[in-house]
Amino acid sequence: MSEHVRVSERLMLPWDPDVPIAGLALRRDEYPVHMCQDEASTVARLGAEIDGRRVALITDNQVATLHARRLADHLTELGLEVSMTSFPAGEANKSLDTAVELLNWLAATKLARRDVVLAVGGGVVIDTVGWVASVYMRGVPYINVPTTLLAHVDAALGGKVAVDHPSAKNLIGAFYQPKAVISNVGYLSTLCTRELRAGLAEAIKKGVIASPELFELIEQEHTNILAADPKVLAQLVRGSSAIKCHLIAKDPYEQDLRRPLNFGHTIGHAVETVSGYGPIHHGEAVAFGMACASRIAERRDVLTPALLRRIVGLLQECGLPTTLTELPVSLNPREVVAALGQIRKIRDGHLRFVLPVALGETIIANDITDEEIHLALSSPERLDG
Ligand SMILES: NC(=O)c1ccc[n+]([C@@H]2O[C@H](COP(=O)([O-])OP(=O)(O)OC[C@H]3O[C@@H](n4cnc5c(N)ncnc54)[C@H](O)[C@@H]3O)[C@@H](O)[C@H]2O)c1
Ligand SMILES: [Zn+2]
Repeated sequence: MSEHVRVSERLMLPWDPDVPIAGLALRRDEYPVHMCQDEASTVARLGAEIDGRRVALITDNQVATLHARRLADHLTELGLEVSMTSFPAGEANKSLDTAVELLNWLAATKLARRDVVLAVGGGVVIDTVGWVASVYMRGVPYINVPTTLLAHVDAALGGKVAVDHPSAKNLIGAFYQPKAVISNVGYLSTLCTRELRAGLAEAIKKGVIASPELFELIEQEHTNILAADPKVLAQLVRGSSAIKCHLIAKDPYEQDLRRPLNFGHTIGHAVETVSGYGPIHHGEAVAFGMACASRIAERRDVLTPALLRRIVGLLQECGLPTTLTELPVSLNPREVVAALGQIRKIRDGHLRFVLPVALGETIIANDITDEEIHLALSSPERLDG
């Protein structure tokens, strides 16, 4: 079908050299987060979102075997044209090298501007693929299908996409929102307990900063969550997703760097960098970071000892590390403080700590001293006091 579109513009020239020319680019992104009960409804939802376009499915090698190949077959059965690739699992592969390989692969598959990239996996796949989608042809649509608890409750939502750099985590990235998120807790049935725990850390974070109700749900149900009970998992994921979407919508592009969602992440990121991205999982590092930030808050008298015990107690009951000795690899506190110094340099000279005050209430402080950090890292509170 031939098409002729006439475009006319007759602009006045700006003669005044003192008036700056305004560059304007307004954009509003909105995407659905679908909660599916099983794989059949997941495939149906995906089919509707893909809407006949070509699909480039990217996953990691473990998820490929467990779920992604089957999912690709179902999409092919719907009549869709699906290409699939995978990269080796693990945080060490959330890297520029992986991203370049994926970009070469997308170019070889001749993926076009309106086609769809499908990220199927945990936070590593979702962060890497989201960034690749943001730069390929200056941005192609992508859909997230999370398969870890952490990706369900956190990484799949919010459009923060990035790969790591040896000097800092998530150093190379963008804000680029997905076209849709398709959430099916059925995929979590194959996830090991350690990964369920790591995901739970990000859910506990949301409870502390924004929802006493979510915190209490986890207090009551953590045993069932860690046993991968699908009913409780669905409740946890729905609640956590709603909280994350609410918090992100307030400031999707992080104009304000004082973000409660960073609770546990200041020390957490330093711990991941020092340990070389991998041996300590993101959720474990965040759990340790939350315990340390809570200790700093209690020593500053903004958090009661009782609530400190409740937060640290829940992390411990969920089997998450709260002290240096509980981390999967031993770390020197001096190295963690030095890594924080590096992060301070990248972040305009300030380290922001999110300090809990009450469930659903935080203070964001940028004047935490190295001594306070040292104390929080090295001298855990007594939980029986
Ligand atoms: N973008 C964001 O807003 C955001 C938020 C939180 C975390 N993150 C990032 O997410 C990453 C961590 O993600 P993660 O914890 O999901 O780790 P991950 O992606 O490395 O997954 C953990 C392991 O589980 C395996 N796996 C995935 N799904 C599985 C399943 N259903 N059954 C069995 N095994 C499965 C993976 O192959 C991998 O070995 C970090 O890089 C972190 O920075 C991003
Ligand atoms: Zn996180």
